[in-house]
Amino acid sequence: MSEAHAVPESPELEALHQRLAENSLGGHWQSRERPAKLKPWVWRWSAIYSCLMESGEVVKLGGIDDAAKRRTVQLVNPAITHFKATSRTIQMSIQLVKPGERAECHRHSAAALRFVVEGDGTGYTNVEGEEMLMEPGDLVLTPNWTWHDHFNPGKNNIVWLDVLDSHLANYLDASFHENYGEGPAQPIMKREGYCRQNLGVVRPRKAKTDNRALPYTYKWSDTLNALTDRAAAGQSDPHDGVLLEYAHPLTGGATMPTIGCWVQLIPPGVTTQPQRHTSSTIYHVIRGEGLTSVGDKENVRDDLSWGAKDCFFVPSWNWYQFSNTSRKDPAIMFSVTDRPVLESLGLFREERG
Ligand SMILES: [Fe+2]
Repeated sequence: MSEAHAVPESPELEALHQRLAENSLGGHWQSRERPAKLKPWVWRWSAIYSCLMESGEVVKLGGIDDAAKRRTVQLVNPAITHFKATSRTIQMSIQLVKPGERAECHRHSAAALRFVVEGDGTGYTNVEGEEMLMEPGDLVLTPNWTWHDHFNPGKNNIVWLDVLDSHLANYLDASFHENYGEGPAQPIMKREGYCRQNLGVVRPRKAKTDNRALPYTYKWSDTLNALTDRAAAGQSDPHDGVLLEYAHPLTGGATMPTIGCWVQLIPPGVTTQPQRHTSSTIYHVIRGEGLTSVGDKENVRDDLSWGAKDCFFVPSWNWYQFSNTSRKDPAIMFSVTDRPVLESLGLFREERG
């Protein structure tokens, strides 16, 4: 921007600017519009949930002409409402599938995942013919270009977080979408648990190892045990509390090439140390209550307060720290980050206070 002021104005410069514009050219010294700074933000679960339930009354789902293919309420960052996006890379939305409903089969080049918030465990996502049951707290991966449909055969609603790297795919002009041509759902060819039997730590030796994401489901009982065991052993980091990654089942690296999934426990009464990164992260509070102090200057920050099931966003290069305001209960958060993208492009940077 300073270079824009370094060239003194003159009739000759003005004429040059006009000629440049007429020829779809620009001078490096000329100013340009900068992207909006994304805002740290909290979306209250009470508002999300009431809008979602209302959508269940007024938005039909399924294979009829006037129905939506998916019924989701999308988290929108107030700085980029025109994109209807949570962040520049990742979209988080909340999906409702009512009893007896099916979200029909399709595939897309955006990678997706689901984190279950509410349900009785009877609903499932079918990913490439594999039935993945959806119990609260489970994480289900539907990697890019994998067929997937969702069905709720039970008596209760299923509600989950839908997370996609759709904005990154759109930005790169790499978005493709295809509806399944052979009916509303794929046949189930592989029963629940297939992915863990074939891709878990004891697995057939022929399993390939590249970092391409794989259909996989991480069960909440395993995740919670891992978190609470580490917390009980006092393995809490001053900046992150107890922070675990949902590792790629074969490589041990990031969950997906474009989205890292993490789960985190902040012990009762603990305030973490401040840090910032070039990655941005969207959080969903599984349980507990607290504050996130966040801002683009280390000493000038806002306190975002949150409770169970609220969602919040920490933008790139904002300082942040968490406080668990409860003296007796841990706070547990699921999060999704574009850090794998920044790391793979050599753009990841961090500072710790
Ligand atoms: Fe989808």
